[in-house]
Amino acid sequence: MKVTVVGAGAVGATCADNIARKELCSELVLLDIKEGIAEGKAQDMMQTATLLGFDTKISGSTNDYSKTANSDVVVITSGLPRKPGMTREELIGVNAGIVKGVCENILKHSPNAIIIVISNPMDTMTYLALTSTGLPKNRIIGMGGTLDSSRFKYQLSQHLGCSASDLNAVVVGGHGDTTMIPLIRLATWNSVPVTKFLSAEQQEKIVKDTMVGGATLTALIGTSAWYAPGAAGAALVESILRDEKKLFTCCVALDGEYGQKDICLGVPVTIGRNGWEKIIDFELNADEQAAFNKSADAVRSMNDVLKTL
Ligand code: LAC
Repeated sequence: MKVTVVGAGAVGATCADNIARKELCSELVLLDIKEGIAEGKAQDMMQTATLLGFDTKISGSTNDYSKTANSDVVVITSGLPRKPGMTREELIGVNAGIVKGVCENILKHSPNAIIIVISNPMDTMTYLALTSTGLPKNRIIGMGGTLDSSRFKYQLSQHLGCSASDLNAVVVGGHGDTTMIPLIRLATWNSVPVTKFLSAEQQEKIVKDTMVGGATLTALIGTSAWYAPGAAGAALVESILRDEKKLFTCCVALDGEYGQKDICLGVPVTIGRNGWEKIIDFELNADEQAAFNKSADAVRSMNDVLKTL
């Protein structure tokens, strides 16, 4: 198995590091446009192989896509990250050009690859990857909800004083500070609804803190986060290559599910060897559906910006 991670910044390198540590593939290519950075980080990671005990061969490439040939999965992290005070949406102009070019180059050498999109604004970049490549929809997966759901579980675990691994909780909708919808009504602590243990104020705070999870870290660190985004990308790669069919929230093309069409938005999907395989389409309550529709409207107007570029 072969995986390429495009973009050797903090998110891409962390994603590659997680993939290698888990030995998800025999060959891993890190590619970046900046001279030497991918080669350097790949070598640095290879020098951890004997310490961490993995056999994945990692190589770096400065923009030479022939090195990525025959990749089974490609993770796209390229583009500008957020600066403090910036929304993900403000990155659209620059990142759209980058993501479109990356998709073209990747498919020249790996026509069968499954593509995972991490670049922001993630919902619009996923839609762009889908519409510009014309690939079957199951092969384009936006990572956002996987990360947001993990952040949601973290926030819940802090209030419940429990292990985040014992929680089931999903964030649907867009991957934006105002477009994501943490479904606290449905979150459970080993199958017991978390709402039984949390006051209305606590629930409100958890939802709010989850929604601005990325912005909070950007303000603290000075650029966007990378540990959880990188790990979320690697978790999707794992479910694909091991055909785990695990349920994640991912940004995928909707065709009537959740009442939406011609849009990529975060919903629960199974992830396996064919990419995203099945959307779990269940009935939201009226408030949740209204929030989902509002999120879709915001993402759709962002997608419309693509037409003006
Ligand atoms: C974040 C970026 C990766 O949420 O979108 O941290």
